[in-house]
Amino acid sequence: MTEKRAQWGSNFGFIMAAAGSAVGLGNLWKFPYLAGKNGGGAFVLIYLLIVLFIGFTIMLGEMAIGRHTQLSSFNAYQKISKKWAFVGGLGVLAGFVILSFYSVVGGWVLNYMFKTVIGGIPADSAAYFGSFISNPILPIFWHLIFMAMTAVIVFKGIGGGIEKACKFMMPALFVILVIICIRSVTLPGAAAGIAFYLTPDFSKLTAGAVIAALGQVFFSLSLGMGCIITYGSYLGKEENLAKNSMIVPFLDTLVALLAGFAILPAVFAFGFEPGAGPGLMFVTLPQVFAQMPFGTFFGFIFFVLVLFAALTSSISLLEVTVAYMQDQHKWGRSKSVITLSGIMFLIGIPASLSMGVWGSFKILGKNFFDFLGFASDIMLPVGGLLMCIFIGYVWGIDKAIDEISNGGKLPFKLRGVFTIMIKYVAPVAVIAVFLNALGVF
Ligand code: PFF
Repeated sequence: MTEKRAQWGSNFGFIMAAAGSAVGLGNLWKFPYLAGKNGGGAFVLIYLLIVLFIGFTIMLGEMAIGRHTQLSSFNAYQKISKKWAFVGGLGVLAGFVILSFYSVVGGWVLNYMFKTVIGGIPADSAAYFGSFISNPILPIFWHLIFMAMTAVIVFKGIGGGIEKACKFMMPALFVILVIICIRSVTLPGAAAGIAFYLTPDFSKLTAGAVIAALGQVFFSLSLGMGCIITYGSYLGKEENLAKNSMIVPFLDTLVALLAGFAILPAVFAFGFEPGAGPGLMFVTLPQVFAQMPFGTFFGFIFFVLVLFAALTSSISLLEVTVAYMQDQHKWGRSKSVITLSGIMFLIGIPASLSMGVWGSFKILGKNFFDFLGFASDIMLPVGGLLMCIFIGYVWGIDKAIDEISNGGKLPFKLRGVFTIMIKYVAPVAVIAVFLNALGVF
């Protein structure tokens, strides 16, 4: 059964949904940790420059393809050039891969949210984290709940599901984040953390750090897998793409920066290590909250915040695959959502078990969970690279500019900047990320 193609209720709704997709675990967990590891302010500066030039360009390119074709990723590429449909296919596959492990981590967040209130996180938070993720049943139970929440929202469609959920969750997330930032920066001893975060230490800014920043921009802005193509396909012709593709990266970057202010000063105030990596959110922060006045309250609202961020991203990942089934195979929304979320839930099970009982099963030397992360690290840059080549050399800059400008005028010099970025700068930068993901340098 075919259904009439949906549209966003308003441009604001689109911005909340796209920013919701972008703002996720990438911002709240990974960005503060990467900044901590790579010279604080210097990393932040490089990250900002990459967002401004490359992030903005690729986002604008994806929005243009989606809005032009009014089709989700695979069919959008196919409509312009049959030979290039595989790029969209790669994106759909990436959606599967990412959501399967993202939902497992979303489940951890749900568990931590409840555990903070009921019983509290045990004092030895490292041991607790280790025993929780390696448990064969509990994380899978929470993964199921997280996937079900994602499915319910996507089931309700674009306007009534995704847009409505994001219009509520994104502003709420922002308010909670600001509250936690205020709490964090006013803790005694927070100044050291703020100084660490803001003082650029250029000696730590190695080539590896620059490339890590590039990879982070990709994942954080939801680029390279057709997610923004799909969301852009529900946009009306009258909306201003150039403006939207500035606002979304701006909001995503603002949240990443604020996450640094929410987390690093508190970590410093209580004498913890800022570069704790994966353990920063699930091991270090529970200890920080345990020592903080009203820590249970702040711990709880923090994990609500992370849950909202993760959910608004997971629904975009599911939507990429659902829209593909609708556009390509003419499946109805309900059938697509139930089948696809069910399959992703099943793929997530071995991912979760690979942290415990199935830990010895390795692909390319990685357990299944890490393998899925590794696959996405490669798929996003490759998708982004191919998209730049596609726009620059197949579809053509002129056609893309026509779509962006709606046949009208463009802001000052945008055409020139867009051309140079899409044809030369972004592809070269993306090749660097890709080689880094492969461990070449
Ligand atoms: N941008 C999300 C985050 O920072 O957590 C993750 C993500 C969502 C990546 C959607 C890719 C995507 F298409």
